[in-house]
Amino acid sequence: MTWTIQLMAWYKIHKRSFPWRKSRDPYKIWLSEIILQQTRIAQGTPYYQSFIKNFPTVEALAAADEQQVLKLWQGLGYYSRARNLHHTAKAIVSDYNAVFPKTFTELCTLKGVGNYTASAISSICFDEPQAVVDGNAYRVLARYFGKDTPIDASYALKEFKALASELMGTESPGDFNQALMEFGALQCVPKNPLCDNCPFQKDCVAFNQNRIGQLPFKKNKIKVTDRYFNYLVFVTPDAKTFLSQRTAKGIWQHLYEFPLVESAQLLTFEELAKDPILFKYTDMKSAVLSKINEKPIKHKLSHQQLYITFWKINTEQLLGVVIDENKIHNYPVPIVLQKFIENFYTLKT
Ligand code: ADE
Repeated sequence: MTWTIQLMAWYKIHKRSFPWRKSRDPYKIWLSEIILQQTRIAQGTPYYQSFIKNFPTVEALAAADEQQVLKLWQGLGYYSRARNLHHTAKAIVSDYNAVFPKTFTELCTLKGVGNYTASAISSICFDEPQAVVDGNAYRVLARYFGKDTPIDASYALKEFKALASELMGTESPGDFNQALMEFGALQCVPKNPLCDNCPFQKDCVAFNQNRIGQLPFKKNKIKVTDRYFNYLVFVTPDAKTFLSQRTAKGIWQHLYEFPLVESAQLLTFEELAKDPILFKYTDMKSAVLSKINEKPIKHKLSHQQLYITFWKINTEQLLGVVIDENKIHNYPVPIVLQKFIENFYTLKT
């Protein structure tokens, strides 16, 4: 137990003050944990605050429309999480009378709530001794105990959760979990951890065996695929353009984007100009095609490297359902498109 006492002593000194730490309301803890699975705390906090401001209760979130939820989520990525959040808010209102279930097991039945989130909510809000194993916990435990278990193996969670549970004690499971995550986030960081002033240095296996760089161990290195996106930005004298919702499974499902031509490599002007897809949107008689960004914008996702080129097509007339340019800011779009839209339409007006 001395390890745990040391960890808690460290946490008492280093604990950061976050808005959700002032509360044990399961709605707030759930929301914060879902957001924090997506991003670092510094980037996640403004998202948390804007969700709470717009939807102070689970009922308010349940009553929102999906486009508004996606818009607030914009920039966090992995948009199915936002849809699950919305779905689960509705389920809590309709199936649980707007009161969150209190146990780990019941929480696990909610859509988008896995072992991690259910452990966080049940321990922080209801003192259930369920260990939270996030990337920080994997790292701290793997290093200190010199555990070689690949953290991307199917059995890793069970092993690390058992280890963390042994260390946890029963006094304050929520604080223990947050202390372990905080220690990984501030002290035992992935690169250049602060071993010099670490309270666990003396008995840390990774430190003593000079294996900090090798632990935690992963068996599969992520393979990154290159993809080439050409977005068609139509511009008309009456300020109309096309935007459509991505329906295919995979990245950015349900978000909006300009008409897309995906290619096997970067396209030249001539190659794009003869692509038949252009004729779907305009008769091309009066159309003038030009490249907006000379160099492709590189946008890295976890498994994909995107190379994005925006092409402008000035034309008199568009075929099909169009949108007004001045409404474009209302649509939830991937963040890389949001940046483009902000620039392009500000310069244009
Ligand atoms: N990372 C994600 N959730 C956290 C929490 N509750 N405390 C510290 N770090 C976290």
